[in-house]
Amino acid sequence: MKLTAQEQAMLDGEYGTGVQLAMKVQVAVGESYDAPYMVPITRAHVALSNQEADLWFVEKLVNGGAVCRVRPTVNPSFNWEQFKEFTTLEAEDEEIVRRTHEAYKKIGAIMTYNCTPYLEKNVPRFGEITAFSESSATPFVNSVYGARSNREAAVSALCAAVTGVVPYYGYLLNENRRGQILVEVEAEMKSDFDYQLLGYCTPKKTGFKLPVFSGLKNPGKEALMNLGAQLNTGGNVAMYHILGFTPEAQTMEAAFQGKEPEAVVRITQEDLDIMRGELTDPYGKIDFALFGCPHLTIDQIATVAGMVQGKRLAVPLFIMTSSLSYVLAEKMDYMRIIREAGGWIVSDTCMDQPCWKFLYGKKGVTDSPKCAYYTRRRQMQFVITELENAVTAALEGEITL
Ligand code: F3S
Repeated sequence: MKLTAQEQAMLDGEYGTGVQLAMKVQVAVGESYDAPYMVPITRAHVALSNQEADLWFVEKLVNGGAVCRVRPTVNPSFNWEQFKEFTTLEAEDEEIVRRTHEAYKKIGAIMTYNCTPYLEKNVPRFGEITAFSESSATPFVNSVYGARSNREAAVSALCAAVTGVVPYYGYLLNENRRGQILVEVEAEMKSDFDYQLLGYCTPKKTGFKLPVFSGLKNPGKEALMNLGAQLNTGGNVAMYHILGFTPEAQTMEAAFQGKEPEAVVRITQEDLDIMRGELTDPYGKIDFALFGCPHLTIDQIATVAGMVQGKRLAVPLFIMTSSLSYVLAEKMDYMRIIREAGGWIVSDTCMDQPCWKFLYGKKGVTDSPKCAYYTRRRQMQFVITELENAVTAALEGEITL
């Protein structure tokens, strides 16, 4: 790769061993994709995980004197202060949270602990070059905003934040943003949940190709969040277009950059119904309800509060959200309403964290296939259905067809 004098100095260790390691990783990624050079970024988001490898790497950078040139936002961890009221946490889990927090704070990250930064605190503009990790985030910034990010790992996004640059390859290049497969959606798309199913279903028909959806009418932010999360979880697809809606697909000509689609596929209501059946565990009695993978928006929290107001939940209901939406939920009384019904709202927390150990081996209901995907390895079962159906199930303690 052709490096600038400053990038070469970073690689040679003139800025310390932390920056040197970060640049080594960046160069290795660039060389593996035949990137000709680096380009500066304006934003980054790091999918902090609290896992040992994550902690080992960030502490290595910090101990080598690295500080972020572009301060990234970070993914959720778990807010152990909020969990103390309903479960006992193990000391070693608290310890890893504390050390991870200290290391990321020291390196200069903005401790947002939120997996939907593109809605609240890290919102790129059209054309910005960025480094976003996190499965719902990368498709959102690429597709909805027309900003540019490769499908970064937590490590590569952190290295980009430290060095301030990324290798020029992949979705940063115009030609790789060209739509490849036309996906004609014939399903009714009545709810945000249908976009979860569409996201999971599409890569099964298109492979890892860049899909261009037709037939989608004015989807809202929750629908787009769901679509990207499931495309990237179910199929490593970090960019899509919606004809006449997303900024690089105002016309068929623009979406396919003047070329013909490589293939045309149809997604029908029957396809989504089959997908629903494949994703969910059997209906029946449930032990809990869990929402917020990705973090629930304040509008979704309002939906839950409206449904449980003045009622008593048959099973505990948990909502994960951002700290901003948590504060809003308090101000708008949703917190009190949900607490009085027997539910909890927690901020800064991810489904894939050890704070949920008390639910292992149990059966829940959720609106998120991604939530169920991550928790299968924890021996948790999930009925997956629309948010409203899931809240009704939590009120009744079971879900039937
Ligand atoms: Fe967010 Fe964790 Fe789910 S980062 S999307 S809550 S797996």
